[in-house]
Amino acid sequence: MRYTAKTGALAQTNATCLVIPRALAGEVADALGARREVERALAATKAKPGAVARVLLDGRPSRLLVVGAEAGKKKRGEQAGAGTEKAFRKDMNAAARAVAAQDCADATLALDGFQAAGRDVYWKARTALAAVSAATYRFTKFKSKRTPRLKLRRAAVHSVDRAGARLAARHAQALDAGLALAKDLGNEPPNVCDPAFIAAAAGELAQSNVTVEVVEEAQMAALGMGAFLSVTEATRRPAKLVVVRYQGADEGEAPIVLIGKGITFDTGGTNLKASAGMGEMKFDMCGAAAVLGAAKAAIVAKLPVNIVALAAAAENMPGGAASRPSDIVTTMSGKTVEILNTDAEGRLVLCDSLTYAERFKPRVVVDVATLTGAQVTALGSHAAALYANDDALADALLAAGQTAHDRFWRMPLWDDYQEALKSEFADMKNIGGRPAGSITAACFLSRFAKGPWAHLDIAGAAYAGGKRATGRPTAALFQYLIDAANRQRQ
Ligand code: BES
Ligand code: MN
Ligand code: ZN
Repeated sequence: MRYTAKTGALAQTNATCLVIPRALAGEVADALGARREVERALAATKAKPGAVARVLLDGRPSRLLVVGAEAGKKKRGEQAGAGTEKAFRKDMNAAARAVAAQDCADATLALDGFQAAGRDVYWKARTALAAVSAATYRFTKFKSKRTPRLKLRRAAVHSVDRAGARLAARHAQALDAGLALAKDLGNEPPNVCDPAFIAAAAGELAQSNVTVEVVEEAQMAALGMGAFLSVTEATRRPAKLVVVRYQGADEGEAPIVLIGKGITFDTGGTNLKASAGMGEMKFDMCGAAAVLGAAKAAIVAKLPVNIVALAAAAENMPGGAASRPSDIVTTMSGKTVEILNTDAEGRLVLCDSLTYAERFKPRVVVDVATLTGAQVTALGSHAAALYANDDALADALLAAGQTAHDRFWRMPLWDDYQEALKSEFADMKNIGGRPAGSITAACFLSRFAKGPWAHLDIAGAAYAGGKRATGRPTAALFQYLIDAANRQRQ
């Protein structure tokens, strides 16, 4: 999909499919000489956020989609009243779905008559194209019958603010590529998407200012990554710590390090999971997918920022060689961990990855992981859990999540919760018991963080309906990187 920006007279945009707000229906209808057809379609469609009236015309546009509520018709206190951010998103999601359903190669979305209180054209254009991106993603690789291909090739945003729309189209294009990578990796079955597959996918990001390296098991052993290695003992698919380095700014500038949990399948290990829903654990690499997706988006957008993306890829299997509850391992940091549950494996690959990340002298470190079922219990899928030892970093991530509508909710990291990790024999154990499971997992990781660090527990957000990768939080991470690049340039 190509995303572009347009400006100038709406009726002359030369689009096959034109999306306009209801407020501009009369004006555009007159310019197209289609007053009667438009009036008829509007009369048959309730004016409300998310409503789409379709008008078929001869020539260009051949389809006019009139979207949303009457301008200014906002009921006070109404959640999706016209003119709110929420109503705008509703309009764009409906418009994008309608556009994808038309038999059109190109579409133009006219943004100016759509209101989104407090948001500029750049944001509106990003939001509109994010909706198109979501409505047009497909994963049909494993369908043996050819599924009908999407006809849409190009989507344009139209506004008088050409610069805003243009930059947004560029960023939306980059994010679309990053999100496709993240979703594809998530949706791939675990017999295909193993650690080597993740390493190969990351390898495709390599270019003049991007290097991709893999820390293999032998090197992990030499580095003393005993926690990471304990997870991968019983699989015949070797673990990989994949390192993607993107230099978009001066060499001397400290990088933002993103670390993703990349468990390509989580059986639980010796502490075997129950069979119901175990297939969902193919999504246990979605943290790694999201950090690779965000890195890809940043690379395509040529963001002026330095990034290191680490994918901690391993498969957690049971078997004769598997680790056992009560095993004690020594982490790369030197701290020892008593593994009391082999199903709490994410924190074991992440703690050593956090220590490994120190060599990059990061500005900040953000790890992303489908870490706990407790996160799903606490927040469901609407917000991922955010933990941070640094308020500025937490605020920047929260803001980015709001902007991208890929939201986080900050949770406490109080010392009081650390007590749950006390071990009889080692420096700590890898589980904290039933209460506050997402928090105690974050507490475990916090012990391995040096400098500003945040942890995103995305267990509920990473996939929808138990079956489709969402790509989250690729969009929020990309927004965080854009904001960080902007802050640095000021
Ligand atoms: N990958 C799971 C967490 C998970 C659960 C992700 C549900 C997505 C949906 C993780 O490795 C895990 O098994 N966590 C355990 C930790 C427990 C043993 C302390 C859990 O949440 O039950
Ligand atoms: Mn597990
Ligand atoms: Zn897991």
